[in-house]
Amino acid sequence: MVCGIVGYIGDKQALPILIEGLKRLEYRGYDSAGVAVHNGHCINISKTKGRLTVLEQRIDPNQLQGTLGIGHTRWATHGEPSDINSHPHTNQSGEIAIVHNGIIENYMKLKDWLQKEGYVFVSETDTEVVAHLINYYYRGDLVEAVRNTLDKIEGSYALGVIAKDHPDCMVVARKDSPLVIGLGDGENYIASDIPAILKYTRRVYLLEYREIALIRRDAVEIIDQYGKKVQKEVFEVTWDVESAEKGGYQHFMIKEIHEEPKALRDTMASRIVDGKVNLSDLNVTREQLEKAGKIIIIACGTAYHAGVVGKYVIEKLARIPVDVEIASEFRYKDPLINEDNIVIIISQSGETADTLAAMRMCKKVGAKVIAITNVVGSTVSREADHVVYTWAGPEIAVASTKAYTTQLLCMYMMALDFADKMGRISADEYQRIIEEIRKLPELAQEILDDKEIIQRCADETFNASSIFYMGRGLDYAVAMEGSLKLKEISYIHSEAYAAGELKHGTIALIEEGTPVVALATQKGLFEKTLSNIKEVKARGAFVIAVAMEGDTEIEKEADRVIYIPRVYDILAPVLVVIPLQLYAYYVAVAKGCDVDKPRNLAKSVTVE
Ligand code: G6P
Repeated sequence: MVCGIVGYIGDKQALPILIEGLKRLEYRGYDSAGVAVHNGHCINISKTKGRLTVLEQRIDPNQLQGTLGIGHTRWATHGEPSDINSHPHTNQSGEIAIVHNGIIENYMKLKDWLQKEGYVFVSETDTEVVAHLINYYYRGDLVEAVRNTLDKIEGSYALGVIAKDHPDCMVVARKDSPLVIGLGDGENYIASDIPAILKYTRRVYLLEYREIALIRRDAVEIIDQYGKKVQKEVFEVTWDVESAEKGGYQHFMIKEIHEEPKALRDTMASRIVDGKVNLSDLNVTREQLEKAGKIIIIACGTAYHAGVVGKYVIEKLARIPVDVEIASEFRYKDPLINEDNIVIIISQSGETADTLAAMRMCKKVGAKVIAITNVVGSTVSREADHVVYTWAGPEIAVASTKAYTTQLLCMYMMALDFADKMGRISADEYQRIIEEIRKLPELAQEILDDKEIIQRCADETFNASSIFYMGRGLDYAVAMEGSLKLKEISYIHSEAYAAGELKHGTIALIEEGTPVVALATQKGLFEKTLSNIKEVKARGAFVIAVAMEGDTEIEKEADRVIYIPRVYDILAPVLVVIPLQLYAYYVAVAKGCDVDKPRNLAKSVTVE
């Protein structure tokens, strides 16, 4: 879970500082927000579903007076976005309030136990167990109660805790999720990320793995998990707010491309267990698959391109026919669909108007609808019969990157699941694919560690008026996405072609120097693609090829070659797209375009 935490203790009113900090953290999550302020006697809370502006409208500052407080902006994972699931969470009496970023993996077990002890839960979140646990262990020493609680919980966390009995301190702790402590004069701050507090201080402590801090107005004490005192160096922040928000990257898009290894890891984490795909969120039976007759994938834009890959892999592995449909087309035709068909809706935002309309049509005929989406609680996730979340974390740049790679991963896991249920895949093949899937995050990282050649290709071609993409099979599916990325952010005209189809017309557009990005990662199609490269070379094209390490033969034909690490070719799309995203990015930067907010485009198109 990527959420934002902020906190303040000092002599100023906490509320405006909390709100200002949360604004700076909205890129970490924005489906709900809340604050808790200690007024010297008790803790008052205001929290709501929706963006921070909704909270701002609802808040009555008179009810939230005080100089100690914590705030949170949420990106839901456990429990849909709702007022009650929003943070801060409290124990039953409301005397302990907490904000949390991360996932408590053993919360079900702890919840059962606490319920038997008489604790009453009000939300569906994993976080609420933490508030009750602190209460359970509390004997007057808040740090001790937090420490005992942390010993019990498994998973990731950054925590901020305040308590009625302690108007003069807050306790924070961190394991995997980030947390910084901002140091002021007679006042101190906490935040998930530096930008939230950079307006007030540049001096921070970076809390490390399993450290706990007791923060007072004029002192900060840090201990490790064993209770031993930690001496910390003050870190002086030298960057400005804007670059800090982007984690030091120039744009959100490049930051999000760099998050792809982690996003892939998160997406598969609890779903590939003991060498098997375990899509507990999706219980499609063999009977349903057999009866389905066909699967229909419906989506728009980048999500549609993930669907094209999905068609290839489901048909190849599970041998079930798949139609991929553009949502805006599907909704206005007289589609061939019946109640037995299985529909897969792909939508990063879960709010795209055309996709929603198409989904509702499918539901009306009684078809089973599975959604792949990144946003918990989105309309698509609420209306579909089953949801497979991509867990990529919030995507801010308009051009979709990590959402696409994680959508692909979901398609692979589904295809394997279907193939297995239908008995259409051998144990060996299944194992091989699982093993290779597990390597993808690491291989994606290798590509990100070696970007020089991609930058060079961008520098050589950013002035082009047209850039073509071509490939065969799965490479063609990725070529479509690569071409879309380039169009979206660099405004260069671009088309993607099935490499064998180019000569039936489009090759007329190839002139001396026209860049052609040729993808050649598919084993049985490599030689065929080489021939197509020769065809465009003969017309003067400047060919940038993407191939797998070791396929050096391609160097004879192409002007530049970008290699991706060797992987089972059916999985290549997840890796091939990364150089294409980077290439589009560097071309757009070289042209001086507004990468994160390209002209005429919106992140989520909620109108027709
Ligand atoms: C917009 C965005 C695209 C996105 C498409 C579908 O056009 O600019 O990047 O692929 O919508 O969005 P969805 O949220 O449904 O995946």
